[in-house]
Amino acid sequence: MRVSRQIALTKRPIVLFGVLVVFIFFFLEMQIGQLKSENKELRDSVDNLPNENHIRSLLSPLHAMRVTDQSNEPLVVYNRVPKTGSTSFTHQVYALTKENQIYVLHVNISANSLKMALPDQYKMVQNMTSWKERKPAFYHGHFAYVDFEQFGAREPIYINILREPLDRLISHYYFMRYGDNLRKGLKRKRQGDTTTFDECVAQKGHSCDPRELWLQVPLLCGQLAECWKVGSQWALERAKQNLLTRYTLVGLTEKMEEFIVVLEAILPNMFKGISSKYRTGKDSHVRNTSHKEMPSEETIATMKSTKVYRMEKELYDFAAKQFEFILKTSTVLENGILQPKTNLFHYEKIYGPKGLIKS
Ligand SMILES: *[C@@H]1O[C@H](CO)[C@@H](O)[C@H](O)[C@H]1NC(C)=O
Ligand SMILES: *[C@@H]1O[C@H](CO)[C@@H](O)[C@H](O)[C@H]1NC(C)=O
Ligand SMILES: *[C@@H]1O[C@H](CO)[C@@H](O)[C@H](O)[C@H]1NC(C)=O
Repeated sequence: MRVSRQIALTKRPIVLFGVLVVFIFFFLEMQIGQLKSENKELRDSVDNLPNENHIRSLLSPLHAMRVTDQSNEPLVVYNRVPKTGSTSFTHQVYALTKENQIYVLHVNISANSLKMALPDQYKMVQNMTSWKERKPAFYHGHFAYVDFEQFGAREPIYINILREPLDRLISHYYFMRYGDNLRKGLKRKRQGDTTTFDECVAQKGHSCDPRELWLQVPLLCGQLAECWKVGSQWALERAKQNLLTRYTLVGLTEKMEEFIVVLEAILPNMFKGISSKYRTGKDSHVRNTSHKEMPSEETIATMKSTKVYRMEKELYDFAAKQFEFILKTSTVLENGILQPKTNLFHYEKIYGPKGLIKS
């Protein structure tokens, strides 16, 4: 009797514990059931929303950007350098819009400034990357390199065309005084001024100051204070680095046809037909500066002896070397006509979870 009561006494906590476990089990079971049905309700209501991306975009504009820019529709940005043949080139691209079903948009930066306000950079990056209705897109404008990644977006396909820096400056100098054959009526900033480049250099004028050569370096360097410091070694190095890693292709005014051939090979859907149009082209040189005088040997020597010229020329030579390398690896001459090298890679020995797919 005493023994069995002792057993009962010692067993009682076990029984209680058992009851508690069963109770907790049912309680949790109920909770899980409830959570599951709530979860389903939520899923159903999300699925019934008009557009999931729209909700995401309300939650976070940056997130929306990442979602929409997953599309493989190309986004090409050409931050053109004045007086490098950029007008003739963009003219060719405009001629493709119908045939290739592409959009070409000019970015008009007010006050003709190459530097953009930070909020404008952000707006531009966000707009370009998320504007699905305007893709495939080719944007062109006079602005220094804008770093898309700095704003949380994926980099676009950046392209550019550089020109021998002194040739470019002289062309710009006369363009400002005499205009060109394209927009004849338009009055240029220094219209009526008949000072030649030689005279300007002799008088140490402003528009032929060697500092005016500092342009291609900052345009490729970007929207950073140091890029605009005339003669900055850091800016030159940064421009080179961007040229190699941030630009898909940088061509040369002196090799426009080669640039166009490679570009068409990289993005055939966007640029299909541009090479043949360029070759047969009545549009190939739409803009020629109306009046130009070759400067004297002395003027050329003076300009070329400056530090700014040497640095700009270093970037130009660097670009030329890289472009030559691309031409060597990516093109071939066939009957005197430059052609892209194609189909240089394919996949084989493809195995998957189910074994051989392609031998
Ligand atoms: C850019 O916009 C300004 C102001 O609307 C206009 O005056 C100017 O002509 C435009 N520039 C070009 C190159 O179209
Ligand atoms: C981009 O900007 C244009 C012009 O301001 C506007 O019409 C368009 O709706 C914008 N697109 C997006 C996706 O923000
Ligand atoms: C512009 O100059 C180029 C090269 O000098 C020439 O081939 C072309 O015909 C000229 N274009 C016009 C419209 O005058």
